[in-house]
Amino acid sequence: MAAQKISSVTKVSNTLLDQLNDAVARELQVAIQYMWQHVQWGGVRGFAVQNELRSIAIAEMKHAEIIAERLYYLGGTPTTKPTPILVGTTLKEMIAQNVKDEENAIVLYKKIVEQARKENDETTNRLFREILLQEEDHHDTFTTLLEDL
Ligand SMILES: [Fe+2]
Ligand SMILES: [Fe+2]
Repeated sequence: MAAQKISSVTKVSNTLLDQLNDAVARELQVAIQYMWQHVQWGGVRGFAVQNELRSIAIAEMKHAEIIAERLYYLGGTPTTKPTPILVGTTLKEMIAQNVKDEENAIVLYKKIVEQARKENDETTNRLFREILLQEEDHHDTFTTLLEDL
């Protein structure tokens, strides 16, 4: 039997819970997407990119975990379903897709930061401001890589 969650001190809206679950789904998507790009892409040109993809994939998995933990604490049930994974076939196609995914993450996380602030959920607000910094860094990395492809 699943453990019954004791209602937490911090109460948040379903809007915020849904946004957090959307974030979990997207983190799962990019964790798998970047890892499979890392696995599938070989060749000399892709060599530097490969290691970058691997380390960002691991960072995204950590995001999925920490967001899911926060969602569960707030009384939600973290999804196990990633949003559609778009691996791509050429290196350029892969990195261009990743730039878009990081842009989507930045847009969503700014919304979550704002929503958490409105609901006086200081922890979620702070958590997403920290994750946002990393997503901006990923966006910068992929944008820079794309320029060289
Ligand atoms: Fe992430
Ligand atoms: Fe990211």
